[in-house]
This record gives sequence, structure tokens and C-alpha cells, in this order.
Amino acid sequence: MAGSQGAALALAVCAAGGVGALPAAMLAPDALAAELQRLRDGAQGRPWNVNFFCHSPPVPDPAAEARWREALRPFYAEAGLDPASVPAGAGRVPFSHAVADVVEPFAPPVVSFHFGLPAPDLLARVKGWGSVVLSSATTVDEALWLQAHGADAVIAQGLEAGGHRGMFLTGELGTQMGTLALLPQVVAALRVPVIAAGGIASAEGVRAAMALGAAGVQVGTAYLCCTEASTSAIHRAALMSEAARHTELTTLFSGRPARGIVNRLMRTLGPLHPAAPAFPLATAAVAPLRAHFEAQGSGDCSPLWAGQNTSGCRAVPAAELTRALAEGFSPAPPAGG
Ligand SMILES: Cc1cc2nc3c(=O)[nH]c(=O)nc-3n(C[C@H](O)[C@H](O)[C@H](O)COP(=O)(O)O)c2cc1C
Repeated sequence: MAGSQGAALALAVCAAGGVGALPAAMLAPDALAAELQRLRDGAQGRPWNVNFFCHSPPVPDPAAEARWREALRPFYAEAGLDPASVPAGAGRVPFSHAVADVVEPFAPPVVSFHFGLPAPDLLARVKGWGSVVLSSATTVDEALWLQAHGADAVIAQGLEAGGHRGMFLTGELGTQMGTLALLPQVVAALRVPVIAAGGIASAEGVRAAMALGAAGVQVGTAYLCCTEASTSAIHRAALMSEAARHTELTTLFSGRPARGIVNRLMRTLGPLHPAAPAFPLATAAVAPLRAHFEAQGSGDCSPLWAGQNTSGCRAVPAAELTRALAEGFSPAPPAGG
């Protein structure tokens, strides 16, 4: 979960029997190498996962950037910031041969991708060093595409999920399905294993996913308040509050639809503002607003990523949550027993 964790949370999940994941989309090469070293050393032979984005970087468009800053103008004025002084920036880089040069010596047991798969030569390189390759699908068509293009297993990401939608064949939000609808249709269509994601926060949720044919589950939101997560105090407070009952898909923080708790920026501009530039370019203009309001203890301009089911969010060690979820892989105890 980019921005909310590093190797510490992943290692805690691994130690408890899960496959902990390191989000790498926002890490510079040196930081990535250091985190991979920590993971490989700490995992002690247990499986672990590193995650990358594989979007096509957009060509920066100064006119679009100006329209975006204009839309944000009331917030800049309130914060006393000059929009012209805010640097543009890429924010997140896609997986590339240069990134693969950093990763290859560590040969991660599992490499996962969001927004499709890398180009065939790059994917072949990842598979060549022995990694199992996963990627997220948000529709049956995307799941079939991932299987046909070399994914070893597919994550069926239901609409409930927190953070970015992994959608890559379509930008049409009307195609997106909840986990209960998406999962069995993806399972029926594929021959590779399917991992369920979106709204799973308890052993009962895991059992439901397994009953629908999942080979495993991917859980994000429920880990956000764990001791080892780097989730900010403002984000943690929002996750634990009644505000967490209202999440929306928003493009305001990156340019791609992602699910987060509704805050003042989302209420004021609307969560899907037409001026938000292409992913990941929307991020740079919001960053100083986020920093300004967070310095005052407010999440008004922060991406408060969360899925629709925050009932699993508790300030406990990740091992405790992982073991509680793992009970879902055993048969349910008899009723009343
Ligand atoms: C804060 C946060 C950040 C996320 N970042 C990533 C990411 O960097 N890469 C990715 O593949 N998925 C990311 N996801 C999505 C998760 O992998 C997963 O699909 C989702 O959390 C499952 O649904 P849930 O949040 O209801 O558990 C993120 C989710 C959250 C909540």
C-alpha cells in the first residue's frame, strides 16, 4: 500500500504466515534497494511480494496543469500559497528495465503489478529470475487479458477496495463490480488461480471469498491501522471515525480513480473533477495543500485511502490481524460451538 507502509508491515505479515507486500511505485532506486534488502533478510526464506505500477506515463500538458491549479485556487488562497510556485512532478514511476536492474539481484518470490502488466520483454525478464507474477483485474475482460499475457495468478479487485482501482482496459467506472459479483465470474472464466480483493476484513470475509472459488485473498484497508503501518495519525483517526462510512472513488489526488474517505477537497470539487490531469500528474499540485493542512492537523486535502469496509481497522500488531484472517482458511466452527 504505497504511502502507508514499507518493509516493516510486509515482514510482520510474512512472519505470521501471510505473503507480505512492499509497495515500490513511490520508491527511488536507493530506497527500493534498501527495502528489498530488509525484506529478503527478514523474510528468512518465507515468500514475499514486491508491487509496481505499470501505467504509461502521460506527456505533461501545461494548459491542463494550469486548469487544475485554477480549480484548486480557493484552497491555495486559503493556505496562503502561490500556485505558480508549486513544482510539477511525476509522483510515481512505472516499472522499467532500470527498476528491474535494482530488483533482479533480490529475485523476489512474488512480483505484483497494478494497471496491467509490463511490456513482454520486461515481463519475460521478471519471470526469468523466477518470480511468480500477479496483477489486478477489475473486470472479467481484464482478468482474461492478464491470463493471456502471462500472469501466473490474477487478483480480482472488487469495487469495495481501498486505494487505486487497478483498471487498465477501460476507464468506464460503470464496468466496475463489487467483489461478490466479480469474483465468481473471474473464477469461472480463468484457469489460473484467482485472489479475491476488496472488502475482506475478517475470517468470515475470507471464508466467503474461498466459498466463491478464490485461491487466496488480498487485504489492504484492514492493515492500515496496524502498529507497523506508516499510516499518518490524521489518516488513522479518519479510518477509526464515522467519516470512514463514506468513501468515494476520486481522481483528485493522482488523476486515476482511487477509493478514499470523503474529505473537504472531495466535497468541494466533487470527487471526479474534469480538470484533474492524467495519472500521476494530479498529485504535484495537491501536495503542498496536503502538507499545509496536515501541519494544522487537518486531512482536508489528504488522500485518506480506505476501502468500503473499515471494520477490521484496529491498532494491533499485523501478526494478530493476519492470524485472525487466516482462521478463515479453516472450516467454520459449528454454530453455537
Ligand atoms: C492505502 C492503500 C494503498 C494501496 N496501494 C496499492 C498499491 O500501491 N499497489 C496495489 O497494487 N494496490 C494498492 N492498493 C490496493 C490493494 O492492493 C487491495 O486491492 C485493496 O486494498 C483490497 O481491498 P480492501 O482495501 O478493501 O482490503 C492499496 C490499498 C490501500 C487501502
